[in-house]
Amino acid sequence: MVLVGPMGVGKTTIGRKLSKVLKIPFVDTDSLIVAEHGPIPEIFAKLGEEKFREFEEQALEFALQTPGIVATGGGAVLSARSQVLLKDSTVIYLSTNGRHIGSRLKGGKRPLLKDGVEAWRRIYEERKPVYQMVCDFEVDTSGKSLAATVAEIRELTTPK
Ligand code: S3P
Repeated sequence: MVLVGPMGVGKTTIGRKLSKVLKIPFVDTDSLIVAEHGPIPEIFAKLGEEKFREFEEQALEFALQTPGIVATGGGAVLSARSQVLLKDSTVIYLSTNGRHIGSRLKGGKRPLLKDGVEAWRRIYEERKPVYQMVCDFEVDTSGKSLAATVAEIRELTTPK
């Protein structure tokens, strides 16, 4: 199962929790990239976004080799190659109305968000159609607890 969606929506937190309750492995593509190539802001600054996207494709391909939960970075769905890779997985799009996003984006580790929440909104609007295109299910996280979101994903993905 692959979690996609905008920056700060909670892909990593939700993915970790799902992996715990389902007792299956969890991997985060951002963490794979950092382990192999160093901090994301440095990759953007030194090598550029295009190179980062290449690392991201490789990380997604690697992550998909192990059955389990994969959390992606917000822009992972942009690559045509990644879109093809995602066809063989159950893809959950974690959406949000963005009301509480500001407090979730603190820490300044996201190179694309130097302009803050405004940039986040613009980027999210641009990418929404892509998230919708690649996903099997959309789960709106707005106003929902972690437990409720995880329960909804389980309900949607458990064969009846
Ligand atoms: C990005 C999202 C980040 C990270 C990088 C670029 C994006 O991951 O991959 O900063 O383009 O949306 P999160 O979605 O986990 O913040």
